[in-house]
Amino acid sequence: MPRLLLDGRELEASSSQTLLDSFQAGGVPWRESCRNGVCGVCACQLFQGKVDYLGRQPHALDNKDRRAGQILPCIAYPASELLEISLPAYPLDCPQLTNL
Ligand code: FES
Repeated sequence: MPRLLLDGRELEASSSQTLLDSFQAGGVPWRESCRNGVCGVCACQLFQGKVDYLGRQPHALDNKDRRAGQILPCIAYPASELLEISLPAYPLDCPQLTNL
């Protein structure tokens, strides 16, 4: 089962679940809106590991974002056993930031 490291916090992920769903199942609030790779509000930095978009396109990320390691967890599935991800800069405990 893939493991997620989020700024020192560790979660288990499911290969059949998006990273966003795994964050939320693990009690980590995350900003989201379209859940379709278009708006970009869920974007975060992948430092280690790989993701698979399973044929979907991360439209909200340009080539520079992708080369820099930005990912869209709403459509990304874990594709390695360990993924290290940076939490976004906004306060994750702010309830208004989910389901924007
Ligand atoms: S929620 Fe819109 S791109 Fe992820």
